[in-house]
Amino acid sequence: MSERLNILYEKKPCYDIVFSSSYDELLSELNVLGISERKICVITDSTVAGLYSEDIMNLLKGNCKNTVLFTFPAGEENKTLLTVKDIYELLIKEKFDRKDLLIALGGGVVGDITGFAAATYLRGIDFVQIPTTLIAQSDSSIGGKTGVDFDGYKNMVGAFYMPKLVYMNVSALKTLDDRQFFSGFAEVMKHGLIKDALFYEWLLDHIYEICDRDEETLLEMIERSCKIKKLIVEKDPTEKGDRALLNFGHTIGHAIEKYKNFSFTHGECVALGAIAAAFISWKHEWLSMEEYYEIRDMFVPFNLPISIQDINPDEILELTKSDKKAEGDCIKFILLKKVGKAVIDRTVTDDDIIKALAEIQYVEDCE
Ligand SMILES: NC(=O)c1ccc[n+]([C@@H]2O[C@H](COP(=O)([O-])OP(=O)(O)OC[C@H]3O[C@@H](n4cnc5c(N)ncnc54)[C@H](O)[C@@H]3O)[C@@H](O)[C@H]2O)c1
Ligand SMILES: [Zn+2]
Repeated sequence: MSERLNILYEKKPCYDIVFSSSYDELLSELNVLGISERKICVITDSTVAGLYSEDIMNLLKGNCKNTVLFTFPAGEENKTLLTVKDIYELLIKEKFDRKDLLIALGGGVVGDITGFAAATYLRGIDFVQIPTTLIAQSDSSIGGKTGVDFDGYKNMVGAFYMPKLVYMNVSALKTLDDRQFFSGFAEVMKHGLIKDALFYEWLLDHIYEICDRDEETLLEMIERSCKIKKLIVEKDPTEKGDRALLNFGHTIGHAIEKYKNFSFTHGECVALGAIAAAFISWKHEWLSMEEYYEIRDMFVPFNLPISIQDINPDEILELTKSDKKAEGDCIKFILLKKVGKAVIDRTVTDDDIIKALAEIQYVEDCE
């Protein structure tokens, strides 16, 4: 049996998140949206296409007006306007109109691009998220942030646009390679650290089961993660205030992602950014030294980096200033007042950031 959560928008029911271990209930969930008279375009990437697109296309066939599949090469480097242009072209060719539907089948990259195409094609067409990575299931598929990178700057162009349904099949996580699976853990940890100390403790207690991808543990972890995100995005859907807390680890994380030319995954960069932010929180005397080291070391069993080679802290500092979290010259930095309570801080100095970067900089011992 599947579990569900409803996400509110401006206090009104907006869309359901369905947590399941198969795609068995997907068709009945889509039928609730009335798909029989609609064309559906399933958007996916080259990796996910080979794994799940046939199942999903077969499931849709005969149950909607027409189905088309759009596949683009997997990878963050394709989260661009060029891919969106290709989607528009296909939709125009296939005569999609505003009552038709897009489905995002894949990770955060597929979800962000599809959501943006949906938000902008004919000024808005419905879309559904079928997230297949841990990042997408625990974070990116909910909350309505859509967009693409521009000139290497993360998520520079985008829109807030809500899906009509999010359907998660947790068993799809089994085909993720270790690197991508563990990357997702960084965003899960983020949710515990910023809002829910009990969830953070639960994660500490379930390291083995999570690494082993025990399905029941993953279901609980993803549901709890989504509940935290739900609380935040319902209060502040368009990031006028506290939604910014979800950017914990992302100011420095996004800068490293760009600096390293996307050779590190988003989650790996978020882990490094979270460690840097926890370090600054310790230096502000909000976290104890023990808490800081516990947070840092928590990433180790998940194969996430806790230090990084070949970085130039000055250049990364410059990049943090071009991130969207900067307001004029002042960086909106997310720090931890304590474990489970993040705050928006505008007092972090260049020197704080340089010291935090020195902390995560891996320097080879030359002895
Ligand atoms: N919109 C938001 O609120 C939000 C939040 C967090 C992250 N993001 C964005 O999400 C992106 C990162 O997400 P991601 O890590 O899911 O990236 P991704 O979509 O690139 O997926 C990572 C890799 O896993 C592969 N993959 C996907 N599902 C698979 C499966 N079930 N089995 C095997 N391989 C599979 C993909 O093909 C890809 O190669 C970044 O662009 C980030 O900015 C957005
Ligand atoms: Zn993120």
